[in-house]
Amino acid sequence: MLFYPQAIITVFAAIVFFLFHYYHRRRCCKKHPFFTDWPILGMTPPILSNLGQIHDYVSQVLHLHGGTGNFLGPWFTQMNYVVTCDPMNVHHIMSKNFVNYVKGPEFREIFEALGDGIFTADSDMWKYHRSLLHSLFTTKSFKSFVENTVQKKVASCLIPLLDHIERHGMEVDLQGVFNRFNFDTTCSTILGSDPKSLAADFPKVACERAFSEVGECIFYRHTVPRSIWKLQRWLGIGAEKKMVEAFKVFDQFLLENIASMKQELSKKNEENNKEEDCLLMVLMREEDGKEDVDDKFLRDTAFSLFAAGRDTITSALTWFFWLVATHPSVEAKILEEIKEQKESNKNQVYLHGALCEALRLYPPIPLDRKQAIKQDVLPSGHEVSPGCMILLSLYAMGRHEAMWGKDCWEFKPERWISERGEIIHVPSYKFFGFNAGPRTCLGKDLSFIQMKIIATSIMWNYHVHVVEDHPISPTFSIALRIRDGLKVWITKRG
Ligand code: HEM
Repeated sequence: MLFYPQAIITVFAAIVFFLFHYYHRRRCCKKHPFFTDWPILGMTPPILSNLGQIHDYVSQVLHLHGGTGNFLGPWFTQMNYVVTCDPMNVHHIMSKNFVNYVKGPEFREIFEALGDGIFTADSDMWKYHRSLLHSLFTTKSFKSFVENTVQKKVASCLIPLLDHIERHGMEVDLQGVFNRFNFDTTCSTILGSDPKSLAADFPKVACERAFSEVGECIFYRHTVPRSIWKLQRWLGIGAEKKMVEAFKVFDQFLLENIASMKQELSKKNEENNKEEDCLLMVLMREEDGKEDVDDKFLRDTAFSLFAAGRDTITSALTWFFWLVATHPSVEAKILEEIKEQKESNKNQVYLHGALCEALRLYPPIPLDRKQAIKQDVLPSGHEVSPGCMILLSLYAMGRHEAMWGKDCWEFKPERWISERGEIIHVPSYKFFGFNAGPRTCLGKDLSFIQMKIIATSIMWNYHVHVVEDHPISPTFSIALRIRDGLKVWITKRG
């Protein structure tokens, strides 16, 4: 048999390269690997075989490894992560050594649809967005604008729709209802116009569909190597093709709204009209009253706020209603509290506790991601190299026995309420649902206001029953949803 010297050299070089890469990876993660690091596939096999219940699986694996460990993805994909649910690590990353942990260029690339808004920005750009939005979010007039908008939408749309569903004895996907409700109120509070996607005939509203599709494509980019989605984008196929089309539709929707708001602003300025306004209108005024605030800046801000606010509230309300419907004693206590509140305007402490408890068990954003700038050692002792990606599992944190006790898998609003009947403060690096440190969610207070209005109105008027045997499991997606929606039927309260 004849062997060509070049072929022998090539095969030999390939074997050396293979062995070198294999042992280099093993050396890198010989400390704290989660799983066996297989040639080529890395640690993906157990993840792929548990994809259906990925969050519960990751929680179990994290707890078996003391809360932190290393995950190595397939070779040459750079999908390598330090994964943690340790509150001390979270505190370190989000607050103590905040400057060392950024969203980073890869995050911005994956979320490029959001432009340069607060969600993707780092350093000075982030500081600028943060202080501007912080000042707007904390004004009394914006808070009352949001509250009034949500109240009106509940009265004019949500209650009539639920009446219609009840009258016709229909089953409905409550998650879909919240999705549409929140899309409409997010449009109203940010852009000042309501696309009316929530209606009895569940109309197809192009901008709503496009926004959801952009979100799905962004998630897809998280799940495949960068080179694959980049190639798909270059070829204009698959999820990337869908992304381009959906992006165009939603972008146009935003820019049209911005153009009409600018016209309205000049009219309002002429009339010296200072009524309560939507966020972008207030922002245009704040920016020195300029009518020519950069469209891109306004568009990126609006897109970021849609991303921050729409799916999170939908997710929180959906899981809350499922938990309440399956825990009649909690439901009875909330109803009792609503009754007292209507009579004496008492604070809704129990409802607040129940919402926190739903957010603990089902955090709307189940995973957060950070990139290290410099070498560091986490409080758990795990080493972090420059450029290292860190995944923080909010889902696993909410089910951490050491933090929440042996009953951490149970839905118990009481754990949030002190003996004096007040809400117990839990530091944000433990109750991490709204993020922690300087990048804590800016919409936290507004979210509680909105969720309480919606929960109170629905629960006071209707009894929500989950359709028997309807499957309930969380999705693997950016926002934690119920895979098959929340199928319910409703009856009027007597
Ligand atoms: C239940 C509802 C909500 C939850 C659980 C929630 C949770 C979060 C989380 C986990 C982050 C950090 C995301 C990251 O850095 O990758 C965040 C950031 C943010 N959220 Fe929320 N959010 C909610 C509602 C809202 C609403 C309604 C708004 C306003 C429209 C909002 C505005 C923001 C903003 C502006 C940021 C960026 C903060 C920064 O980077 O400095 N959120 N939120």
